[in-house]
Amino acid sequence: MDFDLSKCIVRTAKPSDRDDLIRVSRGIWGGTDYLPLLMDRWIAEPWFLVCEYLGKVIGCLKLSLFPGKVLWFEGLRVQKRFQNLGVATLLNRQSFTLAEKLLREGTVQGFEFCTYYQNHESLHLTKKLGFKVHTGFYVLAKRGVKATLEPELLPLQDLEPFRHYGSHIPCAWQSLHHIDESLSFLSARGKMVRTPNASYYVGGSHEHHVTLLEPPTPSMKLDFPYLQHLFGSRKSYNIILPPAFKDSLPLLHELGFRFWHGEVLLNMLVLTL
Ligand SMILES: CC(C)(COP(=O)(O)OP(=O)(O)OC[C@H]1O[C@@H](n2cnc3c(N)ncnc32)[C@H](O)[C@@H]1OP(=O)(O)O)[C@@H](O)C(=O)NCCC(=O)NCCS
Repeated sequence: MDFDLSKCIVRTAKPSDRDDLIRVSRGIWGGTDYLPLLMDRWIAEPWFLVCEYLGKVIGCLKLSLFPGKVLWFEGLRVQKRFQNLGVATLLNRQSFTLAEKLLREGTVQGFEFCTYYQNHESLHLTKKLGFKVHTGFYVLAKRGVKATLEPELLPLQDLEPFRHYGSHIPCAWQSLHHIDESLSFLSARGKMVRTPNASYYVGGSHEHHVTLLEPPTPSMKLDFPYLQHLFGSRKSYNIILPPAFKDSLPLLHELGFRFWHGEVLLNMLVLTL
């Protein structure tokens, strides 16, 4: 394919880019990309950048201000047929110009993002920029069950439930500094769920994940119908747990939770710069 990177323009996204962004997302992760669910919110916010080529959007990247003056990088996408041609490198470079300006002005103090350990392209591109793995979590999937029971929903009043978490608290694929300022973010995007056995935090900006708050016990299986209630009968879902719960992984395996690629390791990585 003839492609001329010098004809790419990186600019702020606008509402008329919606159709192009949906087209970009179609080829990502087998069509399961969450971009269409978030794009309207991102277009209304600052720092949603797109790469335009010959009048069409072919890639995007979102920068967001997270608690603790963190500049969070997310939503990097390049349309399938334009991948491996330097478009993401260009988007990263341009977003870095903006990011460094925000750093100089004192609006942000550091850059962070989260990715799956098997996302080699993303890890390669960001390591070139200087990002390093700072921490990680385990994310495991569970096939849905049929029965559902309604759990009790509780407000999140403080960060005490996250006491087993270290420097970061995961909210699906976004990660927050473990500081009081993160409470409103976590409350806005999720809720505490109480079953007769345990409590969980269930949240995320689009697809919700279950964050374990205590090391699981064999009685967790009694909680499955309550957790299922939040996702719909039979729908599979993901749980996230901190490194401190490593010894619980064999039990979670017995309970039917699986690593996406089978390997037992910290598979949700938080990188910082
Ligand atoms: C990740 C993504 C944005 C990269 O876009 P792109 O325009 O193809 O990226 P570029 O062409 O600028 O660069 C690709 C780099 O990855 C490298 N790369 C490609 N496949 C790789 C692999 N399997 N392992 C390691 N590096 C790999 C290329 O060599 C190139 O690096 P180089 O310039 O140093 O040679 C694109 O693949 C995409 O949209 N993926 C799906 C969404 C996604 O995963 N987003 C990131 C979420 S955190």
